[in-house]
Amino acid sequence: MSDVSSTPTPHRRRPRYHGKHPRRFDEKYKERDPARYAADVQKVIASGKTPVGTHRPIMVAEILEVLSPKPGEIAVDCTLGYGGHAQEILPRLQPGGKLLGLDVDPIELPRTEARLRSLGFGPEIFTAHRSNFAGLPQVLASVAASLLAKPFGVDAPRNATPGADLILADLGVSSMQIDDPPRGFSVKHEGPLDMRMNPQRGQPASLLLQKIRADALASLLTENADEPHASALASALAGKAFATTGSLAAAIHAALPHRDKEAADLSVRRVFQALRIAVNDEFSALDSLLRNLPLCLNPGGRVAILTFHSGEDRRVKKSFEADLRENVYAEIALTVIRPGAAERNSNPRSASAKLRWARRST
Ligand SMILES: C[S@@+](CC[C@H](N)C(=O)[O-])C[C@H]1O[C@@H](n2cnc3c(N)ncnc32)[C@H](O)[C@@H]1O
Repeated sequence: MSDVSSTPTPHRRRPRYHGKHPRRFDEKYKERDPARYAADVQKVIASGKTPVGTHRPIMVAEILEVLSPKPGEIAVDCTLGYGGHAQEILPRLQPGGKLLGLDVDPIELPRTEARLRSLGFGPEIFTAHRSNFAGLPQVLASVAASLLAKPFGVDAPRNATPGADLILADLGVSSMQIDDPPRGFSVKHEGPLDMRMNPQRGQPASLLLQKIRADALASLLTENADEPHASALASALAGKAFATTGSLAAAIHAALPHRDKEAADLSVRRVFQALRIAVNDEFSALDSLLRNLPLCLNPGGRVAILTFHSGEDRRVKKSFEADLRENVYAEIALTVIRPGAAERNSNPRSASAKLRWARRST
C-alpha cells in the first residue's frame, strides 16, 4: 500500500478569467462544485442566477399543494431533470411510497440518480428511467410487479394495472442543459448547433436547418414560437449550414437589419425555441402524454403540468377541458396558476411558467 500522506498533492491553478467574475461555463469552477464552494453558490442564487450544473425547481409550493403527495402513494416525475421537484415529493410519500423519475437525457439522468441516492433515496423508493414520457404506460407496465407489491401505507386495493397517484411534468429543458455549451441550446454561449435532449437520437438542429425548405421553416417558426418575422427569417436560414449557435444568432441579426438589438434578440430566442421543439419532437411527446394520462392515473389521482410557452399551455388546457367534459377528470384548474412576484424576481427563468392541474374521477 502506498503512503498517501507522503505523496504531495500537485498544485493546480484555478482557471484564469478576465474581469472580476467568471463568464464562461468552464471558468465557473466554483458553481460546478457546490459541495466545496457552498457560500459562493448561495451568492449566485441570491443574485437571481442559477448556478451552472444545477436547476432551481419552479413553483414547488404550488405543485406540492395541487399534487398533495401522501404516505404510501406512487408518484411519477415525467421530467426528472435535476430532481428538484422529486427531492421535495419523495419524503412526503414515505413511508411506503415510491417515485419513478423519467428523463430522455442520457447525460444528466445518471448524475441526478447519483445525487438523489446521495440524499438517501434508495432504489426501494426511487427509480430512474431513461424514457420519453410519451412511453409512460410502458414504463409503468415494466415496473408493475414492484408497484403491485406495495408494502404498506395504502388502504384501497390496487388496480390490476397499477397506475400513479400523482404525475408531474415540468416541460422544456433544464438549466444544466441550457448552460452547457456543448449541448448547443444556449443563445448566449458558443457551441455546436445541436439542441438534442438525447444526443444519441435524432438529428441536430444544424442538420434540420440544412435540410428544411423555406416554407416548412416559416410554419415551424410560427407554430412553435409565434415568430412575427417567420417568412423573412425562413428565407434567410433554410437550407444553410450553421455549425454553431453563434453563427445562427449572427445570421438572425443579419436577416433583421432594421430592428433594434433588443427586438432582434427576442427573435433569436424564439428561433432557438422553435428549433429545439422541432428537434426534440416536443409537441408529439406532450400530445401522447396528455392522451395517456387518464390510463396512467389511479382513480382520484392528480396531475400537474408546468408549461413555458403558449403552444404547450394551449395543448394542456384543451386536453384537460375535453377530458373533464367526458368525466374522465372530476376537476381541473379553472385558471392557470402563475409564479408569485418573489419567485419571478429571484429566479427569472420562472417568469413564463404556467401551472395547470387535473384530478381523475374515482
Ligand atoms: C425543466 S426540466 C425539469 C426540471 C425538474 N423538474 C427539476 O426540478 O429539477 C425538464 C427535463 O425534462 C426532460 N424532458 C423534456 N422532454 C421530455 C420527454 N418528452 N420525456 C422525458 N423527459 C423529457 C429534459 O431532458 C429535462 O431534463
